[in-house]
Amino acid sequence: MSTARDTLASARTSPQTDPRTDGHTDAQTDAQTPPALLQVESLAKRYTLPRASIVGAAPELQALAGIDFTLHRGRSLGVVGESGSGKSTLARLVMALEAPTAGRVVFDGQDLHALGSAALRRARAGFQMVFQDPYGSLDPRRRVGQTVTEPLALLGGVPAAERRERAVEVLEAVGLGAADLDKVPHEFSGGQRQRIAIARALVTRPKLIVADEPVSALDVSVQAQVLNLMQDLQDRWGITYLFISHDLAVVDLVCDEVLVLQHGHAVEHGAAAEVLRAPRHPYTQRLLAALPGAGRPGSAPGAESAPPTPAAASSLRGDAR
Ligand SMILES: Nc1ncnc2c1ncn2[C@@H]1O[C@H](COP(=O)(O)OP(=O)(O)OP(=O)(O)O)[C@@H](O)[C@H]1O
Ligand SMILES: [Mg+2]
Repeated sequence: MSTARDTLASARTSPQTDPRTDGHTDAQTDAQTPPALLQVESLAKRYTLPRASIVGAAPELQALAGIDFTLHRGRSLGVVGESGSGKSTLARLVMALEAPTAGRVVFDGQDLHALGSAALRRARAGFQMVFQDPYGSLDPRRRVGQTVTEPLALLGGVPAAERRERAVEVLEAVGLGAADLDKVPHEFSGGQRQRIAIARALVTRPKLIVADEPVSALDVSVQAQVLNLMQDLQDRWGITYLFISHDLAVVDLVCDEVLVLQHGHAVEHGAAAEVLRAPRHPYTQRLLAALPGAGRPGSAPGAESAPPTPAAASSLRGDAR
């Protein structure tokens, strides 16, 4: 029916992409589990809100209330939850864009929030971010070459000629090329702009990419292409993803594990196959029940062109995970 389904389904049934989808639990795969890349320990963030009046304490909001997880190399962890559940807060803390109120983010053996600024700048080569909005996240006046090489310029120490070479390398990896270096964002479609954003994230050769709703702003057929590209890059270069999405169907298609956030608490965490087929927590059950699908209340007109529900995705893949 939709290109998204077909493309995603064929990608997920290809033998090259199968090793991460065997459906075993952590306990069953311990022997083959790759080393940890990211350890998030008791991570918490409390924001102080503006006072409503001049008397009394400023109100506080617990955006993240103590999160723990380990993400292994080459794996994908999907973070799901309703708006305001703390997904982007988690992303900002993992990316060390904001300091936590408590807890640690250990990336590749380094406690990121304990690093000095020079060490943190060097560490940033190892983790990069892709944002939701490919229109807002690219500077409209900057040429693609400058946009894509920006993380290398920030890192310092990479000569201009090498920066250009690396830009061509990553543009080619995302299906663009040297001819695009001097163009500006408005010359590209939304999907192409997101490819440029992914190229920029790849240019430092990171081990981890944090993607915050990377396909939510794209048309469904384009979503499939971008998701396939991300999986391709993972298979080729062993990239690890922290993949944030409110869309459980997308997470089901691309992630090995799922972490469910509700009001800053992790209410469920496990293999995607288990959490999305047999959710234990009532909140996860409600999220799944709210997915658009045949006969479900709240199905929008045209919902048939939306990404498949997890159950549909499973049957499309023809697997039994
Ligand atoms: N800088 C801030 N100051 C105060 N409150 C904040 C700040 N950033 C986030 N919050 C609050 O923290 C909570 C979690 O926000 P967050 O952006 O992490 O949610 P989210 O799960 O990413 O939501 P969405 O799906 O809408 O993107 C929300 O209640 C939000 O209003
Ligand atoms: Mg968010």
